[in-house]
Amino acid sequence: MRALVVEEFGPIDSHKFQDLRDPKPAEGEVLIDVKAIGLNFPDVLMLQGKYQKRPALPFVPGRDASGIVRSVGKGVTRFKAGDRVICQVFTGAFSDTVSAPEKRCFKMLDGVDFESAAAMVTVFNTAYVAVHMRAKVAAGQTAAVTGAAGGVGLAAIQLLKAAGVKAIAIVSSQEKADLALANGADRVILTNVADPKEKIFTEIMAATNDEGVDFVFETVGGDMFADTLRTLGFDGKMIVIGFAGGVIPSAKTNYLLYKNLSVIGAPLDIQFDHEYDKIVRGVELVQDLYLKGQVKPNIMKALPLEKLAEAFALITGREVKGKVILKVG
Ligand SMILES: NC(=O)c1ccc[n+]([C@@H]2O[C@H](COP(=O)([O-])OP(=O)(O)OC[C@H]3O[C@@H](n4cnc5c(N)ncnc54)[C@H](OP(=O)(O)O)[C@@H]3O)[C@@H](O)[C@H]2O)c1
Repeated sequence: MRALVVEEFGPIDSHKFQDLRDPKPAEGEVLIDVKAIGLNFPDVLMLQGKYQKRPALPFVPGRDASGIVRSVGKGVTRFKAGDRVICQVFTGAFSDTVSAPEKRCFKMLDGVDFESAAAMVTVFNTAYVAVHMRAKVAAGQTAAVTGAAGGVGLAAIQLLKAAGVKAIAIVSSQEKADLALANGADRVILTNVADPKEKIFTEIMAATNDEGVDFVFETVGGDMFADTLRTLGFDGKMIVIGFAGGVIPSAKTNYLLYKNLSVIGAPLDIQFDHEYDKIVRGVELVQDLYLKGQVKPNIMKALPLEKLAEAFALITGREVKGKVILKVG
């Protein structure tokens, strides 16, 4: 098999593709011939040893892949050779072959193609956790989404719209604003000004009759956290998803008392251990909405596997609008 191997943590250019011996599926694992791979912001962190959990070296990074089951290990009951599957693994997806734990694999519904499936796994699973499991949104509510033209941001907007929630997208360029609007955002706020704090506040208050939003889905971190915390209305909820800007913010807790606010974490990976049935339902819901045309993956670019570094540069250069994927074979 051909795979990217991380021997020492470091930037994408420091890792090389290698020919490795084909794996055999261990007990409880599903061996997949990969057709498409999705790239995600957490991959950037993983390669550099900055992700919450560090895998032992050397390892093959990558979390999202779709493909066809080649064989299954002992004890696997939900999959058989020939099945079309999506997987979301801790490591191993930047390869033409991946052996994934059965629990990390999901059946692809008829009508869902490999590229769309690979592009949707982590971002929609994350958005599902944030929107439905942690925020528990209801129709008629209002939400702001930061980093709204990134993978998770667009997925969140689409799930919010499908749930009848008004979505305000916060983005850094007109191109990103256009994409957010095309994905259903009701309004956009552009942050391409020297100090966007007042602009964000004024425009959200104008959009909500001065009441503020019910939720903020926050993917950027840094100043964006405080700038959007103050836009929440009474009983508002700040849903913490990530820190794409690289700075982990702290909350001014007096602010939480002042407006009855909550700050809620929305981690995806640990839900596999704690709320597995809900994750399975989320994957089914997203595929169902995809087949009904209510969600889409927004694939900005599809590159061959070996062009991984080029694909990564789009993410680290903040140029991603939607998703970047790799095609295998
Ligand atoms: N909670 C979880 O379990 C979970 C799971 C997956 C991802 N995440 C996190 O969710 C966030 C978004 O992930 P994603 O895959 O959607 O990323 P993405 O597609 O690369 O989008 C990230 C967005 O963040 C904004 N941004 C601000 N500063 C940036 C910087 N210095 N570099 C890159 N982007 C920057 C950009 O929007 P603007 O230019 O418009 O500001 C960009 O569109 C990340 O923090 C990621 O780690 C969390």
